[in-house]
Amino acid sequence: MKLLLLSGGSRGLGSELYKRYEQNSWLVYEFSRSAPHRNSVEVDFSDPLAAHAVFSRQFDQAAQQDWEEIQIVGNAATLHPMQPLAKMQAQELVANTHINIASALLFLSSALDTFQDHTCRKLLVNISSGAANKGYAGWSLYCGAKAALENVVRSVALEQQHLPHPFTAISINPGLIDTEMQAEIRATSVDNFPDVQKFYKRQADGLLRPPAQVAAAVANILSQPELTPGEVYKVDDVIG
Ligand SMILES: NC(=O)c1ccc[n+]([C@@H]2O[C@H](COP(=O)([O-])OP(=O)(O)OC[C@H]3O[C@@H](n4cnc5c(N)ncnc54)[C@H](OP(=O)(O)O)[C@@H]3O)[C@@H](O)[C@H]2O)c1
Repeated sequence: MKLLLLSGGSRGLGSELYKRYEQNSWLVYEFSRSAPHRNSVEVDFSDPLAAHAVFSRQFDQAAQQDWEEIQIVGNAATLHPMQPLAKMQAQELVANTHINIASALLFLSSALDTFQDHTCRKLLVNISSGAANKGYAGWSLYCGAKAALENVVRSVALEQQHLPHPFTAISINPGLIDTEMQAEIRATSVDNFPDVQKFYKRQADGLLRPPAQVAAAVANILSQPELTPGEVYKVDDVIG
């Protein structure tokens, strides 16, 4: 049997990945606050050490058996709070970095450590964004986190290359997806997010892809036998 460990599988892209893999007979565990699926594990990434205890317990249990393939997909993220850095409440700033950086890293590091000796095909996947390579006023924390995670993955790819049973570590930029994250962007004031009109236009122009279509493209990328460690793959290149 094959195993998918997925953060943020409760809705949006993550929920479609969850359903797709489960339909294809993978055992899937997803980790989120609302935890709506049969194999959801309730966890709040805004408290990284508590979250780490929850998902590492689940990883340890899953590591007791052999798997045909293991995919670890770090997908949970938040844009909140969308506003200039100077205006952010300290508590919200810290919560964002806990979710997008500290817990995201612990999810990946814990999985690497737990499954390092498993001998099957193993992928470590960071769901990234075009925001990793571009600044947006109002999105400083999100842009910073996406850039950080992409570069962590490049470093992990180097760390893994000489190990006996390496993970292939990659990032995927999923492109524009019609999810709650996009609705949240459009609901932000122009004072807090000056580009908001562009995002209304992208929706009006039909540029947001259905999450199920993006999940199929992500699964397609991850099924390729020869993935290049450290690479950022783009769903736009797969769907065109
Ligand atoms: N939508 C886009 O256009 C777009 C574009 C580029 C990149 N992306 C990236 O694609 C990924 C999926 O995005 P999406 O649009 O599907 O997002 P979404 O609809 O906002 O879903 C976010 C997921 O993250 C989880 N999450 C958020 N805060 C959490 C917390 N404190 N603890 C645990 N889980 C938490 C949510 O679960 P709960 O709320 O249940 O906790 C949910 O499952 C993200 O990494 C995003 O940055 C999206």
